[in-house]
Amino acid sequence: NEIYLQGLAGTTPAFSTDPTTLDGAASGVLTPEAYGYVAGGAGSGATMHANREAFDRWKIVPRMLTGATERDLSTTLFGATLPVPVLLAPIGVQTIVHPEGELATARAAAALGVPMILSTASAHTIEEVAEAGGDGPRWFQLYWPSDDEVCASILARARAAGYSTLVVTLDTWTLAWRPQDLDRAYLPFLKGEGTAIPLSDPAFRARLPRPPEEDLPSAILQWVGMFTGTDHTWEQLPLIRKLWDGPILLKGIQHVDDARRAVAAGMDGIVVSNHGGRQVDGALGALDALPGIAQAVGEKIEVLFDSGVRTGADVLKALALGAKAVLLGRPFVYGLGLAGEEGVRHVLRSLLADFDLTLGLSGHRRPAELSPAALHRD
Ligand code: FNR
Repeated sequence: NEIYLQGLAGTTPAFSTDPTTLDGAASGVLTPEAYGYVAGGAGSGATMHANREAFDRWKIVPRMLTGATERDLSTTLFGATLPVPVLLAPIGVQTIVHPEGELATARAAAALGVPMILSTASAHTIEEVAEAGGDGPRWFQLYWPSDDEVCASILARARAAGYSTLVVTLDTWTLAWRPQDLDRAYLPFLKGEGTAIPLSDPAFRARLPRPPEEDLPSAILQWVGMFTGTDHTWEQLPLIRKLWDGPILLKGIQHVDDARRAVAAGMDGIVVSNHGGRQVDGALGALDALPGIAQAVGEKIEVLFDSGVRTGADVLKALALGAKAVLLGRPFVYGLGLAGEEGVRHVLRSLLADFDLTLGLSGHRRPAELSPAALHRD
């Protein structure tokens, strides 16, 4: 309503949140390296396409006269009530698209009460982002380093800074073949951009022969070595449990047996995700993995979803297929690149308004009313 009313007064939004043009608008303002890093995927890009195709195969079947005028979008996760079933996905080194990076994102998320999941590869420190987010809900994402003491230090800092919930990303134990970045020899970390968390961590610094200020290239190489090519197994998950006394989710689950293993390992949730098609080229669309996994473990642990969410209808489809909430990824990064904090807010509010209207117009009052019966598969 606000946007329509502003329009009557001659004011239109700073940029369009039309999902078919947002990405193009961002490509106009970002450097080719930054844009390529955000928009790119693994290999041929087949998995990114599969993510969208999976959404397109499902159609919503609207119901009429259901009294959906009044709606309540809230949902409960790990005992906390969220105003909407949407979180901001962990995205590393956000300063590559905007100088305020994660600080701007934290402020925008907090203003809407939406949890921001802070990446291990954040450009600002855990403590700085916590402060920027004020009272907003905060979750932390772990890239599981090979060094247990560094792992313990990062998690202890996140707990002390008030992060409630931990998301352990399993699908990026090493970086995939990403032609968009390889062609430009681009890795944001290696450019010396956005290295605050790893390089500022005291346990990490204690490992270095010389402080990063004196020898940045070797500090960065040491960090990359600690976070890539790691060889953890399911048997080591108790270590994470020992280091984190809040809820833990595993991110990057795509096989029903891995979902069952997460339950057996005592995890509190999973994120069904293929990292936005950035890791395995030729993988199945993430939404195609969701129904079977939700059916197998949805009663036992919380099932969240990401990879390909662009519209309110996408949120509805993922919830109908068994997700309790979804993570928004690239679209908010484009908003950040286009207009900083205001841009993230605009993208998020637009998605939420779109979801609210689509939920109501398809005949539902609450996310909990959604089930596969709301959909038809082509
Ligand atoms: C990511 N993603 C990611 N995931 C994670 O666990 N830690 C991270 O640091 C990052 N960094 C990151 C950077 C960029 C530029 C992108 C696009 C993605 C993956 C992210 O959390 C999420 O799984 C995907 O973004 C979902 O795909 P879509 O919906 O954005 O296409």
